[in-house]
Amino acid sequence: MKFLFLILTTIFFLENNFASDKLYLPFIVDLNKLEAMKSNELQKGSIDVGKNIFKSRAVNCLSCHEAPIPEERFHGNFGPSLIGIGSKYKKAEIRIRVIDAKLINPETIMPSYFKIQKYPRTPEKFFDKTILKAEEVEHIVEYLYSLK
Ligand code: HEC
Repeated sequence: MKFLFLILTTIFFLENNFASDKLYLPFIVDLNKLEAMKSNELQKGSIDVGKNIFKSRAVNCLSCHEAPIPEERFHGNFGPSLIGIGSKYKKAEIRIRVIDAKLINPETIMPSYFKIQKYPRTPEKFFDKTILKAEEVEHIVEYLYSLK
């Protein structure tokens, strides 16, 4: 009986872990360390491209965060200032916050920018769609990491 219980909990554990891993591929999320790695197939991002994506009104990071971009007029303050964020966190810690800030704080108002949504009621056309592409996440990670 005990043995059966052990097998069932192991299967449950493996399935759950596997499922959550898949939602973030090609990123590898470590929920113990609260870090996310990029897989080798993804190239290193570019700071300049990252800055442009960051300040674009399509993605709207600036609607909630202050950043050292004085030429942009409006900076929000719903979220913490990102000035100096590159000294506060490693790249892997920045990356997990950009792909899915809800992994750190389930109550956060920050959108999950790279999470594959597969809830039963998600319309089919949004399957496998994320707000940012994996490459765009990498550009943003490099940009934020450069803010020392
Ligand atoms: C709707 C508001 C909102 C938007 C839009 C938003 N964020 Fe956030 N962000 C937050 C909040 C609030 C937090 C604080 C985390 C929490 O709620 O626990 C946060 C936290 C962060 C952190 C961690 C900061 C720290 O000091 O721990 C990073 C990095 C970050 N956001 C990056 C981004 C990037 C990059 C974008 C755009 C792609 C973005 N955010 C868009 C609200 C937002």
